[in-house]
Amino acid sequence: MNFSFIHITDHHLTESETALLDGFSPNYAFRKVMRHLAAQIGNQADFIISTGDVVEQSSPAAYEAFKQLLNVQATSAPAPGPLLISLEGLHQFPLYLLPGNHDDRSHFYQCLFPKGPMLPLMNAAFIHKGIQFICLDWGPHSKAVVHQETLNFLARSLETDLPAILLMHHQLVPMGSRWLDSFLADNLDQFWQIVSGRQVLGILCGHVHTTYERVIAGIPIFGLRSTAFPFVLQDEPLACLLPPHYRLITIQNSILTTQIFEVPL
Ligand SMILES: [Fe+2]
Repeated sequence: MNFSFIHITDHHLTESETALLDGFSPNYAFRKVMRHLAAQIGNQADFIISTGDVVEQSSPAAYEAFKQLLNVQATSAPAPGPLLISLEGLHQFPLYLLPGNHDDRSHFYQCLFPKGPMLPLMNAAFIHKGIQFICLDWGPHSKAVVHQETLNFLARSLETDLPAILLMHHQLVPMGSRWLDSFLADNLDQFWQIVSGRQVLGILCGHVHTTYERVIAGIPIFGLRSTAFPFVLQDEPLACLLPPHYRLITIQNSILTTQIFEVPL
C-alpha cells in the first residue's frame, strides 16, 4: 500500500528552551522544524521517525522537558512507540523514536516507554501497510559496535517476505572526516552479508548530522542533517550553522523515493 512518512534526527534538546549550546538553541530549532513539517507535509505523512540523540545531556529532567515540549501522551507501547505528540500544528501525531549515543538507555526507557521492556539494545520491528520497519541498535557509544544480538535480530526479521526499511542511529558509510569516520563500526561485513539480496528498500541513519545519499549492495542509504547544528566534514570536530533538514519518504508500489526540506531558522 502507498504511504509517506517523515524522518528527523539528532535533536540534542536541552532541559529548557532558553538553554543554549555554544550560543545555539536546539529547542528553538526543533520547534521550527516541527512547525515547518506540520504546515508543509503533515497531512501527507502517516508518522514521523526520529533516529535518536533526543537530548544533549541525558537526565530524567531532560526527557521530562522533551515530553512537555511535544505534549507527549502517555502510552503503553514499547519502544520505538509510537508516542503521540501534539505541537506546532500536529495533533496526536505518531512519532517512532530510536535512542542515539547521547540517550542514556535507562532514562530513555523509564521516561518515554515505562511500560515496555528495558533492553540494553533497542532492536525492534514494526509493520506499517505491508512494510517492515527494522530498528537496529549499534550501542550507546559514539563509535558503533556490531553486536551479534543485533545481527541475529536483523537476520530473523528479514526471514519474512515483507519489504523492509532499516532504521538506525549510527552511520554505515564513511563521510571523509577523520573524527566522524572513527565512529564507524569496525566490522560491518557481516551486516552487508545479511542484507544483500534481501528486499531492503532503504536505510535511514543519523549521528553525523549530515544529509547524504549512497548506494551500497544495491540498497540506498539516506543520512540526514540534524534538527540542531550540522558538523563540518573535516578531520577535527567543528559544528556550523546551516538550516536544519527533514526528509519525506514515500513508498509507492514498493518503490522508495525521498525529498529533503530545508527549514530557515
Ligand atoms: Fe547527534
